[in-house]
Amino acid sequence: MPLPPALSRPLTLPVVGSPLFIASGPELVTAQCQAGVIGSFPALNARPASLLSDWLDRITEENAAYAAAHPHAVVAPFAVNQIVHRSNDRLEPDMDVIVKHRVPIVITSLGARPEINDAVHSYGGIVLHDVTSNEFARKAIEKGADGIIAVAAGAGGHAGTQSPFALVQEIREWFDGPLLMSGAIAHGRSILAALAAGADLAYIGSAFLATAEANNPPAYKQMIVDSTAKDIVYSNLFTGVHGNYLRGSITAAGLDPDDLPESDPSAMDFGSGGNTEARAWKDIWGSGQGIGAVKQRLTVADLITTFRTQYEAAARALDARTSLHAAAPATT
Ligand SMILES: Cc1cc2nc3c(=O)[nH]c(=O)nc-3n(C[C@H](O)[C@H](O)[C@H](O)COP(=O)(O)O)c2cc1C
Repeated sequence: MPLPPALSRPLTLPVVGSPLFIASGPELVTAQCQAGVIGSFPALNARPASLLSDWLDRITEENAAYAAAHPHAVVAPFAVNQIVHRSNDRLEPDMDVIVKHRVPIVITSLGARPEINDAVHSYGGIVLHDVTSNEFARKAIEKGADGIIAVAAGAGGHAGTQSPFALVQEIREWFDGPLLMSGAIAHGRSILAALAAGADLAYIGSAFLATAEANNPPAYKQMIVDSTAKDIVYSNLFTGVHGNYLRGSITAAGLDPDDLPESDPSAMDFGSGGNTEARAWKDIWGSGQGIGAVKQRLTVADLITTFRTQYEAAARALDARTSLHAAAPATT
């Protein structure tokens, strides 16, 4: 099935910069779009709620001005993330603002609701829903989502436990619409791997946490650069849902990362402060396992240039390897 126009427009790379609680705002999103990849932010990051409309105006105007000043530049569309959870009492008013601004792409997480999909479709927008299993993917499409984000093991934030190969493979058996792959993608080679695995786009979060335009503290950015996969702890203590966090931030909050108690999922209250005194995501810092590939703090433009160089080198190397295999005689 061809991709919908919002996703098939030319991009510098087949990448969506995923929504990051606290870290993504207009600065990060416009930098992503102007570097030619789809940028996004959670509606809840605009606080107070009245700020959401201003942010949407700002992103739209700054991207349009950039495109006018740079007629040959690839300027990507943007997305807004809605946390579709009963603890989000802003869901409906934020939807009204999203509809009014005709946001091209809406990313829904932690719940799929037909009326949200209908509202986005009313003005021609598309909905991508994030899931951690094939079963949730089926439900999301049944409820009217246009595309699926497969959040696999190793992803930052509320991650799944399934291998990306298993998850994307199972979804691709029945779904030929837009499919994004997420989890520990932080190198151009991994973006190419997402396409090889059957996805249309890579969905990348943690690598952007170390960029100049991200709205998280400098110490958090540096911990992303200094950490590797061994420094990521999977726990449900902080929000009630399992997610991946930086070991160093858990220690700094006075907790033992190797001996964290289990939490009760019913206690989940997104953004309210979680279940410990240290507040996820303010004090306990989320990150996926891919950050070993993040070697320095860059601007978004430089990160995308780096990804593109890595992606092209990986494509050439893969081409050389796969054509070698094609030339080899079949064994009996
Ligand atoms: C610090 C942090 C905050 C996040 N906040 C959100 C959020 O508000 N909404 C959401 O849908 N996903 C959120 N995520 C998940 C990401 O959008 C995405 O699924 C994940 O970062 C992809 O894996 P990666 O970090 O390994 O690239 C967050 C992830 C991190 C690391």
